[in-house]
Amino acid sequence: QTALIHRFNGISFTVRSSPDLLKSLDTVDAREDDILLVSYPKSGTHWLAEIIRHIYNCKVTLTSPIEFGDISRVKELNNLSSKRIIPTHLDYNMLPSNFKVKQCKTFYIIRNPKDVAVSMYHYYKDNPNLPTIDSWTVFLELFLKGDVVCGSWFDHFLSWEEHKNDRNILFLFYEDMKKDLPKVVKKMSIFLEINISDSETEEICEKSSFTEMKSNVEKENSDSNHTVCALTSNRKLIFRKGAVGDWKNYFTPKQNKMFAEMFNKKMELILVLTHIQNCK
Ligand code: A3P
Repeated sequence: QTALIHRFNGISFTVRSSPDLLKSLDTVDAREDDILLVSYPKSGTHWLAEIIRHIYNCKVTLTSPIEFGDISRVKELNNLSSKRIIPTHLDYNMLPSNFKVKQCKTFYIIRNPKDVAVSMYHYYKDNPNLPTIDSWTVFLELFLKGDVVCGSWFDHFLSWEEHKNDRNILFLFYEDMKKDLPKVVKKMSIFLEINISDSETEEICEKSSFTEMKSNVEKENSDSNHTVCALTSNRKLIFRKGAVGDWKNYFTPKQNKMFAEMFNKKMELILVLTHIQNCK
């Protein structure tokens, strides 16, 4: 089991992100027209990537995550000649500084962490690249401790939340996308400075619907190197339920209380940070 995971900077990564690559991320070049897609796993990364691909009419290269693979990734990314859409699960501190300097347009997608936990639990159960999990109860404890791949949801979110007012970063909510996708697609296209008509917006929404994406992936031959999530070995595992509020089917009242306590404790930090910023 331990061979599946290693730690880097105190965060768990699968062995599919090699330590050599993680150490060398700063040697990846960054370009002004790169688009970064940032997420904690299971927050809707594939969905977001599909929408962006269609906004660009598929004339862009959606790479696998910057932290996925071995050291040869650096060269591969640097050699790509087309416009790059680069997904990543890295927290803000680990994002290579080149991307910060270039102020690349960045999306950060957030999903209710309770639904993220449930989605990730299923993913752990079905994915041969991740350690075996005995039960939901055990998994939730690991999730709350941040002892899962990509570390703590709370720390990941907080590291990016601090930058929510940066002009080059757009925060999106999974739940908003479920409620009114055309509105979110419009917002994304405005941020990307691309004009799309109402009918194009409608088409993009259809092409990136859960059913459409699920059926497309079932038809394709699985290529484990073509992934937008560094945990993925099989894209067919991604499209499970695609719903809001599935957590209600898993959390006991006690677990819900435990989660709320952790949430409140961690999120207090935001209030402190906002206060400090306002005092400047
Ligand atoms: P569930 O496991 O709750 O179904 P990621 O892409 O970051 O790995 O996130 C995967 C989650 O997003 C899964 O959640 C998946 O079903 C959901 N998802 C993927 N495509 C979607 C879509 N088009 N619409 C809604 N949810 C989608």
